[in-house]
Amino acid sequence: MSMRTHTCGQIRESDVGKAVTLCGWVNSYRDHGTGLIFIDVRDRFGLTQLVFNREDAPQSLLDVADTLRNEDVLTASGTVRVRTGGPNPKLGTGKVEVVVSDLRVLNKTENPPFLPDDMGALPAEETRLRHRYIDLRRPTMQRALLTRHKVYQVTRRYFDENGFLEVETPILYKSTPEGAREFIVPSRHIPGSWYALPQSPQLFKQILMVSGIDRYMQVCRCFRDEDPRADRQSEFTQIDLEMSFVRREDVMAMMEGFARRLWGEVLGVTVPPVQRMTYRECMERYGIDRPDTRYGLEIRDVSAIAARTEFRVFRDALAKNAGAREFFSKKGVVKAIRVPGGADRLTRKITDGYSEWVRTFGAGGVPVVKVNAQGAFETGVAKFLEPVKADLAAAMGLEPGDTVLFAADTYAVATKTLGELRQKVARDLGLVPEWGKAWNFLWMIDPPMFERNKDTGKWVAMHHPFTSPREDQRDAFVAAGEDDDEAVESIVSAGYDLVVNGSEIGGGSIRIHEPAVQSKVFQLLGLSPQMAEEKFSFLLEALRFGAPPHGGIAFGLDRLVMHLCGTENIRDVIAFPKTQIGADLLTRAPGPVGDDQLREVHVKSTWQSEPPLKGVS
Ligand code: AMO
Repeated sequence: MSMRTHTCGQIRESDVGKAVTLCGWVNSYRDHGTGLIFIDVRDRFGLTQLVFNREDAPQSLLDVADTLRNEDVLTASGTVRVRTGGPNPKLGTGKVEVVVSDLRVLNKTENPPFLPDDMGALPAEETRLRHRYIDLRRPTMQRALLTRHKVYQVTRRYFDENGFLEVETPILYKSTPEGAREFIVPSRHIPGSWYALPQSPQLFKQILMVSGIDRYMQVCRCFRDEDPRADRQSEFTQIDLEMSFVRREDVMAMMEGFARRLWGEVLGVTVPPVQRMTYRECMERYGIDRPDTRYGLEIRDVSAIAARTEFRVFRDALAKNAGAREFFSKKGVVKAIRVPGGADRLTRKITDGYSEWVRTFGAGGVPVVKVNAQGAFETGVAKFLEPVKADLAAAMGLEPGDTVLFAADTYAVATKTLGELRQKVARDLGLVPEWGKAWNFLWMIDPPMFERNKDTGKWVAMHHPFTSPREDQRDAFVAAGEDDDEAVESIVSAGYDLVVNGSEIGGGSIRIHEPAVQSKVFQLLGLSPQMAEEKFSFLLEALRFGAPPHGGIAFGLDRLVMHLCGTENIRDVIAFPKTQIGADLLTRAPGPVGDDQLREVHVKSTWQSEPPLKGVS
């Protein structure tokens, strides 16, 4: 028989008069000196108020009650009655209380390092992670795990209804150059050989299409040895999907349906029509491939106007690679964003701060001009802009009280700078709607196939090397010479990302199913035929044995849950997350292993000192 008759969130007015037994943690203990003792007992389902009357309760019961402290584990039996002190509308159980007749402590707690409530400031994240079992008792964390659970359920239901088959793929995999740094695992049986943990099940799911699985899904763990950030973990979960005999439209329609179902079932929100925007338009208007369209501050190219000024910064920028093609190139440009009402709100101190901040993106600073209440230009740059004032005002739609922030540099730097600055200004001025007020979904489509790596100068795939050129680009791609930068750069892929409120929640593409096209991609990426064969023979071979046209996507499950819970910290939606240096502070992983263990897997460590296991940052 169960130790309890009800959970702590279950009892209602209709239970008045019933004998009940509850189990849970002491959430609070209140003795008002009126003869009544109140104890709130808590479990995952809620809180119930227990009450003891000093006057008539047996001394043995009071003796136990008086020893209780927060977070002790207890079981209490008693009778339900209507709350004598009036209802608490915040609780599901707020109309009732339990008059206790029997009380037992199931386990005493040591003095907890913090209490698991959501009132007041949270303890340092390091403390929360170290004592995650207490942190996870907090209602917010329990809600996050519940939301995560709902996401799993909705996902499985939706894709099952649509004919997807759930298939598990291996965790011990093969090292393949796919983008991120890999985690590797030594083999005991095959000395000197290593597995890699999968960055994603990309190739397995493609092979499943060759196997005739037709529609595949998996909720899977992915591993990328990159530095964790607010929305990134080195170990994270994807909802991974693949479909055969489909075009881009089919995949996008299926996934929009999924987003609609998810937001509908979890939040009761109707997802508005999903906008589509080409990569190029995203970059031109928002300076980023995952634009947040919930606020304006759009970027305008004002190069032609800037060219007619004597302002050195503009002229120098525009002189850069003047003959080059503009998009994707190093050609100099002048771009700007208009900040309505910025003249008052963006003080000199703030804009000076921006000039400093944008150095991270390679920009020299942020020239600023303000439009005063009379419509005149102000600040240092104003005098240079006087001759083009009318044109600038018309191009930017300027009004009194506006501020214009400029970036004058190469296309790449100016775009990146204003893309980042736009988000910062929106945050600083409170232009970002509160969570839940706006859901701007957008498909970013038509990204380029390749870009040159800034450091190595080599071609790299924008999505991954298995992404197909867009249908109408296939022949141009096959014909493109490796050194013909313009030709390679302008090939558009059949990739797509699903973006919500400026965050990429999913990314996918139609895949290459022709071995010759796949080999050409490897060649462009600098993989010799031998290397391609060594790393990807299984894929190239599979493609030769009847691969259907196919495509898919993977959603970042953790990121989906972040949006559905309204948190900006990915660690808040993962039960046992890792810190910025990939450490699990609860179990103290990673840790050293003994020499014997190393010998067994034929590994010798070059690290001599004690491993440092630091905190969150
Ligand atoms: P991609 O690398 O774009 O594509 O990943 C798909 C989605 O996974 C999420 N994501 C992450 N979430 C948390 N932490 C991370 N480190 C992290 N990295 C990615 C993002 C992203 O949109 N195999 C392809 C998918 C495909 O082509 O079908 C892939 O992995 O939300």
